[in-house]
Amino acid sequence: MKKDLLQLIKKHGTPLFILDHNILRENYRMFKKHLPRVQCYYAVKANSHPEIIKTLFNEGSSFDVASYNEFMQVYKYIKHFEKKDKEFFIWDKIIFSNTIKDCDTLRKVKRYRPLVTFDNSEELKKIKAHCVTAGLVLRLKVPDTGSQVEMSSKFGIDQGEAHSLIRQAFDAGLVVEGLSFHVGSQCTNFDNYTAALNITADIFHDARKKGYDLKIIDIGGGFPVPYDEQVPKFEALANIIAAECDRLFPQDIEIIAEPGRFIVATAAVLISEIIGKARRDGKVFYHINDGVYHTFSGVVYDHWIPNFRSFKRGKEEVCAVVGPTCDSFDKISLSVQLPPNLEIGDYLLTENIGAYSVASTTKFNGFYGATIVHRT
Ligand SMILES: Cc1ncc(COP(=O)(O)O)c(C=O)c1O
Repeated sequence: MKKDLLQLIKKHGTPLFILDHNILRENYRMFKKHLPRVQCYYAVKANSHPEIIKTLFNEGSSFDVASYNEFMQVYKYIKHFEKKDKEFFIWDKIIFSNTIKDCDTLRKVKRYRPLVTFDNSEELKKIKAHCVTAGLVLRLKVPDTGSQVEMSSKFGIDQGEAHSLIRQAFDAGLVVEGLSFHVGSQCTNFDNYTAALNITADIFHDARKKGYDLKIIDIGGGFPVPYDEQVPKFEALANIIAAECDRLFPQDIEIIAEPGRFIVATAAVLISEIIGKARRDGKVFYHINDGVYHTFSGVVYDHWIPNFRSFKRGKEEVCAVVGPTCDSFDKISLSVQLPPNLEIGDYLLTENIGAYSVASTTKFNGFYGATIVHRT
């Protein structure tokens, strides 16, 4: 085991979530490098740790927020700005990408003139009543075939109904600034992006012909993380998106994106510790001190299949790795290749665990989740 990891464990104990801010910066810069035309709004929901927001803020990132609290987490860094700069930042660098916002949230953000997404006429009525200052972005329903987490069953308006909703918004005295979509999270089927961009372009050009001056195309998140070797390369996707954007939209149109997972997933590893071991129906079960109610919550909410490595070498066999709670649901994986001779007190390493992990940790059974440490 690497000496520096052992030192961290000695100092902080386990479970230990180690977040590398250099990797965060590299991921952000890689996104910008391969999609230079696209403004990058980090999707705070993927991991809202304040230190992540701070690092990305210092890199010049924009932010996608899902709630008033997430908005405030970003606002903290611009609170001291001059009024004009603050207003510009909020308008230019923050988007409320949650298509449904409660009335109270809308009332609270009205004074900030936010950019918000919507996908239905009830939401329009709420925005008109409680946040008339908002700029609107209409979220479209697009194919999300094969994505790890699908989106289109809950969000987005059908292509055929988009125009009437745009008209409704303008008729109500609101302004639709642009169109958005999300092809599903961890999208490895790049045809989803091509299809979504083409659907969006049809609606965009149709709206412009009808006199509605849309200015923003928001291509959402979904950018895939290299969890395994089968995942196609981000660079290839970026080439497709860049070419399609240039082909489909005039140069003065702002293209924005909301990557979450892509920025943060590879920036963290988790060290967990074996706290129990049993053979159940012939299979070795490793009980570790983290589970699906904690850092491995992505197994449930994110359909994520975690990886495990032991520091001890040995012939491997199929083992189970389960969490520390009394709930039998708390099984992380029933099929992990590990040596069967690991012992209580041995450590397991899980890579690429930065996204949708600590973001949805609970305190179930009185376990408080992993200690988070930062490599800056
Ligand atoms: C509206 C919206 N934008 C962006 C994201 C981030 O997606 P991803 O982590 O796949 O990049 C999500 C994820 O749920 C989302 O709902």
